[in-house]
This record gives sequence, C-alpha cells and structure tokens, in this order.
Amino acid sequence: MFQIDKSKAKYEQAKQHLAGGVASSLRASMKPTPLYAESAKGARLRDVDGNEFIDYLLAYGPLILGHAHDGLTDAILMAMRKGYTYGLQHDGEIELADLLVEILPCADKVALSGSGTEAVMLALRLARAHTGKRKVVRFHGHYHGWSDSIFTSFPGAGLQQSTAAKQAATVPPGTMGQSESSLEDIILLPWNDVVSLESTLRAHAGEIAAVISEPVMCNSGCIQPNVGYLEELRRLTEELGIVFILDEVITGFRLGLGGAHERFGIKPDLVTIGKAMGGGIAVSAVGGKAEIMKHIDTAEVSHLGTLNGNGVATAAALATIRELAKDNGAVYARMEELFIKLSTGIRELLHKRHISGVINQVGPVFHMMFIDEKEVNNFDTFNKRDSGKYARFAELMLEEGVLLRPNGLWYISAVHEQADIDATLLAVDRALGLLVV
Ligand SMILES: Cc1ncc(COP(=O)(O)O)c(C=O)c1O
Repeated sequence: MFQIDKSKAKYEQAKQHLAGGVASSLRASMKPTPLYAESAKGARLRDVDGNEFIDYLLAYGPLILGHAHDGLTDAILMAMRKGYTYGLQHDGEIELADLLVEILPCADKVALSGSGTEAVMLALRLARAHTGKRKVVRFHGHYHGWSDSIFTSFPGAGLQQSTAAKQAATVPPGTMGQSESSLEDIILLPWNDVVSLESTLRAHAGEIAAVISEPVMCNSGCIQPNVGYLEELRRLTEELGIVFILDEVITGFRLGLGGAHERFGIKPDLVTIGKAMGGGIAVSAVGGKAEIMKHIDTAEVSHLGTLNGNGVATAAALATIRELAKDNGAVYARMEELFIKLSTGIRELLHKRHISGVINQVGPVFHMMFIDEKEVNNFDTFNKRDSGKYARFAELMLEEGVLLRPNGLWYISAVHEQADIDATLLAVDRALGLLVV
C-alpha cells in the first residue's frame, strides 16, 4: 500500500526552517507531496514511508550509474580518506582534464566547476572575452541554469514564434528578484528555425558574442534538431565570428561518451557538461578550443570557485567516466536498447487504451506527454500538451512503484534491467487504466 504520511510530515517540518521546504524549487512540484528518500541502490529507491520505486527520475539526470554504485562509491571513499579538498592542486585535476580532452571531440582544454549553471556562466564569459561582443542568442524552451544573465521564463502556448524581431523584443525574466537588465544582452529565438537564426545572426553579427543551444531540446519535449539545423548553426557562427556553445549539461556522457556533439558529428567552440559526468557528485566542466580557453590561461578571464576541482568531485568524475568507457562504451547501446523497449511498450499501451500521447526519445532519455498530436517537433506544439494529466499520471505511477519526474522527462541508468522495464510496463498499464476512469 502506497503511504505518504511520513513524507508529508517531514515536508511540514522542513518548511519551518528550510525556505520552500525543499532544496531546489522544482522539487516542490511533486504530487501528492515531495517525497523523502531513505536510501537507494541501483535502479531502486526507498522512501521514508517504506515505498519502493524503480527510479527514472535519477536525481534529474546525474545518476547514470544508478544509486550507490559500488565502484563509484569506493572511488569517492578512497578520495575522501586522502582529504576532500585542498585548495591546492592535485593529480585528480590533471587526470580528469586529460581524460575529458581525450574523450570530448571539441575540447582542446577544459575548466572545472561545480554545477551546470556555473559551467554556462563561464562559457558565456569566455565567449564575450574572446569576441569582445556582448549579446547572446538563446532559444525558447531551452534551459541553461538559473543565473541572472541567462534564466528566462518559458513562455506559454499563447506566444507565437513569429518574427525574429518580436522574439528579440521579449525576454521575460525567469523569476522575481531577477534584474530585467540582466537579460538585456539576450536575444531569444525559436529553435530549429534556420530562417530566424540566419536573419538575426546576420543583422546583429557585430554585437553577438555567442549562440548557446541544447543539442536536443531535452528541457522541453526532448525534441531533436531538424536535419541540418545544428550544421547550419555551426556554419553561420563560424562565418560570422560568433562563439557556438553547445550546452551538454544533460546530454554530456548521456547520449554517448563524447556527448551529443560526437553523436551528431558537430564541433562547437565550447561545450558545457555536468550532471552525468559526476554520477551524482557535484562537478561540471567547460571544454573547447584552445584559442578560447586560453583566456583563462592568460588570466584575462577569471574562473573561480572554492570547491572547483576538489578531490571528491574529480575522483567521482574519473570513476564514472571510466566505468562508462568500459568495453568501448557498450553500456550506451544497452541503455538505449532497454529504453527503446520501454518507450515502444508505453506507446502500445497508449494505443491500446485510446489515449493520445507522444514519446520523443533520444538514446537514454525520453519525454512522454499527453497530447492530441501525431508528433511534437517544436516548442509551440509541445506547449499544447496536457501537463496536468501527465502530473496525475506521474502521481499514479508513484502508487504503482515507479518514480518519475512530474514534467515527463525519463532517464535510464546503466544498471536498469529488463525486469525493471517489464515491471514498469505493467505499472504504466495500470496507471493508464486509472487515468481514463
Ligand atoms: C541543459 C542544461 N544546462 C544547464 C543546467 C544547469 O545545471 P545545474 O542544475 O547543475 O546548475 C541544466 C539543468 O537542468 C540543464 O538541463
């Protein structure tokens, strides 16, 4: 029997002294209540009420090796016994930098930080320093962390993606307390639209330092780039002297060892990675061309952070990446195969129950949504989904023993097994049955 009494009580207790009751605002949206974890191992998580879940939330993406992975845990413990952080240099930083440069096709050099937000901040700073320009093009539906200079709210379905000029004129702040002037340098464009991209870049090339894009719009529907779109983005930015930043905080070490840019054969100038890179420990990186990264070498660009490159973070990243790299990265094909079985099975169940829905999948990540469309390949269509119905579905899935992100994005880890997929499909069948009554 699904129980939430203890989680509910803890949430009330937490709200007394923990602002918002949760440590990251998004987590408060979980229904029927934010859950409190007790422990987790592999693909399974147990909460304080004794409920056990197959986990596809995976801490919002980082847990590519699942929970409490033995090898990763050993590596972290070994590093901790030698001192967690020194404020001095150590071998782990050199080893990690060497490994990242070996694996990431676009990286001649890397810089280490603690979160995806910080990696994006550094990439934007490098781009501005390198070009001497200040504007940044970003796209509707993409998320690049919560720093003031890039965080915008996602407009609702009402906002039409019409002309580039209209888009450029409206950059809504993502939160109260954010200075509107912090977004003055942002040009917001529809994604996957070569026409608006080209006209904007050509019109403002003299002012635009960077274009930043997720390679797959993971944060809004897991929408793939149109054929040729990223190539065109690469071609135009190169021609116009604009730094192309690919934000691979989700896709890095998830879509493959070399991330999306290796998978798609695109070479951005800079790449940001985080999440899966540390297997659940806070670490992130910017990698890119030597001629841009050199602004850190020359100290023209400040790259700061008390805990940057700490021994626990570097040990975690090294252990995670080495585990993923075993047998030439064979684990990626396995994760993808299992996830295709899962998404195909869910599509069949939707069909069986005459429920309209779409699942967009790219390798070991997919977005499931309830929507009256055959396909969802742009942000406007994505905004037509029934997010309330999905939140209800996610709640029913909890009762069925499956932990999902309430917005529809599913992740798989290297330790999920066929039995998990089979059990999940049974749970989906039951939850869909309850959803339609
Ligand atoms: C594409 C992308 N960039 C940046 C970030 C920010 O990363 P973090 O939450 O580690 O600051 C996220 C987080 O979800 C993300 O999805």
